[in-house]
Amino acid sequence: MADNNTDVNRQLKVLKRILSATDEQMHDNAFLIENIKEYGITPLAWLQELDNTTTYTENGMIQVPGEFAQFIKCLVDIEVESAIEVGVYRGRSSYFICAVLYRNNPRLRYDMVDIADSLDEYERFREILPCLNKCIPNTSDDLIGKEYDFVFIDADHGYEGAMRDYLNVGRYAKKLVCFHDIYAHEYDSCDGGIVRCWEEVCVLTEHLPKMVFSQFPDRWMGIGVVLNDDNHKAIGADNDYEDIQDKSKQFMKDIEGLDTVYVYGARNDSRRMYDALERIGIDNISLVINDDSENPENVTKYPIAKLENIEEDATVVVCYRDSLVETAMIPLRQYDKINVIIADEKIASFI
Ligand SMILES: C[S@@+](CC[C@H](N)C(=O)[O-])C[C@H]1O[C@@H](n2cnc3c(N)ncnc32)[C@H](O)[C@@H]1O
Repeated sequence: MADNNTDVNRQLKVLKRILSATDEQMHDNAFLIENIKEYGITPLAWLQELDNTTTYTENGMIQVPGEFAQFIKCLVDIEVESAIEVGVYRGRSSYFICAVLYRNNPRLRYDMVDIADSLDEYERFREILPCLNKCIPNTSDDLIGKEYDFVFIDADHGYEGAMRDYLNVGRYAKKLVCFHDIYAHEYDSCDGGIVRCWEEVCVLTEHLPKMVFSQFPDRWMGIGVVLNDDNHKAIGADNDYEDIQDKSKQFMKDIEGLDTVYVYGARNDSRRMYDALERIGIDNISLVINDDSENPENVTKYPIAKLENIEEDATVVVCYRDSLVETAMIPLRQYDKINVIIADEKIASFI
């Protein structure tokens, strides 16, 4: 209890410092890192080995100080009126993020959602952050379609759970949606985990800018952010995910029973489709080109056939962007016995 009190007092002191910091300080890496390290980080053996200058405490944030500081810096100038964190645990990241947002907008409301109440000293933190709003027990299922400016997802790290949080509230975010643990491969066994979720969200939101804060890319933690722009009311179109699921199911039906498939062209999207077909167990796959214009990067790592040499009743998948499909179809139309499947280029990431 004495330790906990020491932690809380120190953390309140840090947050008060953040609340009264100047803009210049809030853009200064050293200021942010020092305060994050003083505030405290949950003891993680791999992090402690690398850095003994941080306060490690069970009452700390589950964060890498360097990447969290960069993330915080990107929030400093954003005006957020409504925020939600899904999965708050002890609330230590929430309090810090909340202080940064509240400093910039006293009208902020910060909803803290979790299935279990592990918060301690919530009331004491709320004294300096009255915008905190404990919504526990709850899940994003209770808030479907609610439009927050800011969404932070750090709850169920399995694929289904993380994607559910994105579909329930993340895609409706008006300004930004953030995912913690985008490189946490320890959840890969949960149907691809949060890593797969982040990759798919990147595909669904390919029209929007992203920021990734990571000290250990593809190894530990990492924070991924999708930013909205002025052209969209929210981050994701309402049924984009469902639409791509339907298209993926149809595609799987179309190729069912085939063991030989050609993918038209050798550009990036065609190669992604080749990799996806390999992943789902198609035995014989080749890229197929009409002439070298369909292999502008001179790719040699994939088997490449010439259209004029393939079997009469071959199946060719065209995985091009909508605007390029017509161009791809011109040479294919000369071979009327070929079975052509036109696939949305996004489905390579979803099958
Ligand atoms: C990794 S911890 C969150 C850490 C916190 N964001 C931080 O940085 O300190 C994950 C939390 O998510 C909660 N959780 C798990 N599944 C959830 C769900 N479906 N909805 C909401 N919270 C969930 C757990 O109870 C746990 O407190």
